[in-house]
Amino acid sequence: MEGGPGGKSVNGSDPAPSLSLFTYVPFWTHDTLQGVLAWIPDLLIASEAQLRDVTAVLSGQGHRQLDLMRARLLDAVHALYLHDGATLGEAPPILPPAFRGLAEIDSPISPDLLASAIAWCWTKLSRLRLVDRRLIQPVQSEVAIENAYYEQVLASIYNHFRPRSARFQACLRRLAMEEARGKDVLEVGVGTGGIATVVAPSARRFLGVDVSHAMIAEGMREGGYFGVPICADAMQLPVREASVDLVLEHEAFCFLDEPLLGLGESLRVLRPGGRLVRLVSRAREPEMASSLTAQFHRELARRGAGPVPIWGKGADQRINEHLVSTGLDSTGRKLDSWVEQRTLGFYIDRIANRAFPYLQRLPVEVMHAALEAAMQELGLKDQCQRRLTEGRSLESWTTEIPE
Ligand SMILES: C[S@@+](CC[C@H](N)C(=O)[O-])C[C@H]1O[C@@H](n2cnc3c(N)ncnc32)[C@H](O)[C@@H]1O
Repeated sequence: MEGGPGGKSVNGSDPAPSLSLFTYVPFWTHDTLQGVLAWIPDLLIASEAQLRDVTAVLSGQGHRQLDLMRARLLDAVHALYLHDGATLGEAPPILPPAFRGLAEIDSPISPDLLASAIAWCWTKLSRLRLVDRRLIQPVQSEVAIENAYYEQVLASIYNHFRPRSARFQACLRRLAMEEARGKDVLEVGVGTGGIATVVAPSARRFLGVDVSHAMIAEGMREGGYFGVPICADAMQLPVREASVDLVLEHEAFCFLDEPLLGLGESLRVLRPGGRLVRLVSRAREPEMASSLTAQFHRELARRGAGPVPIWGKGADQRINEHLVSTGLDSTGRKLDSWVEQRTLGFYIDRIANRAFPYLQRLPVEVMHAALEAAMQELGLKDQCQRRLTEGRSLESWTTEIPE
């Protein structure tokens, strides 16, 4: 998360440690979009036709055809999944769990897996606005796959590994009073309701939107919402134009396939004079915790499971720059900065429990072996109770729609 040259500057630099072992997935460029468009839709159409044929005659030549199709669909999933057609063939061994079977050449291939890969590719193309979503038949597997970032396991531990301190909550209460009071408010990427719980009671009406059923269900279970959130894509909001006074966002745009599409949708639904408020959390992890992460990533790489692709780097800066280029400025403000105490055990558990979307995609045995080795290497095994200090801050970036 970065404040960028596009908006007015706020005090404080980006404290995130730079870990060269991460691969930051690039955002789509015009060229990569065109590259993907040149071959994937045709492949999908041909595969669908072939699949209908092959499933009818699943004997004899059928399996060979399925295997060929598997290899080509694997290319398509990789190209779309890694957000960059250019990296084809160099994909790290991490695919959405639902698609690992595509890469396991020795295991039998099922027509269902191929059908869900085809469906996923269509969905992804439509979310990138490369094909018209209305032309796509809804498929059963789509929901499960769309939830892959924030699926059930991650949703159930999300709140535990994102403790919200009293200082953070105080910022939200102030924001609720200053920005949300008496307004029609929409929060994109509402998750388990951490922000909504505090802000929504001040609003006239509040609507939370999130693409993950699992996160919404977790929030409902915990009673974290005010009103009922809806499950929808921030890049295609099912909300009328100019119908909202305030759009709130915290750590959601960076997870979108294309953050600028989410930005465009948020601006579309705002009334004249309405405001988009993006909250940006920053954390300066204690040195011991960032050494652990770095060593863990080295150990993953040593076991053939790295570098690990991370989404979203630079999303805030890109959004700020885009806003400036369209004549809409954004104003940054540091709301507060503080320190939080955590034990080293918290950071270890956070990795062990796979509390980040990218960790959900690693083979669990490899991940645990890498963590064990990292702790051994750094001599951290007996230090779980050690108390560490983490620096945190919260900023708001506000964009106002002209009257
Ligand atoms: C890090 S969580 C943040 C949740 C919440 N804003 C908070 O601060 O607790 C990111 C959320 O963005 C949601 N998300 C990811 N992609 C989305 C999309 N395309 N449309 C709507 N929500 C999305 C995820 O499901 C997840 O709940």
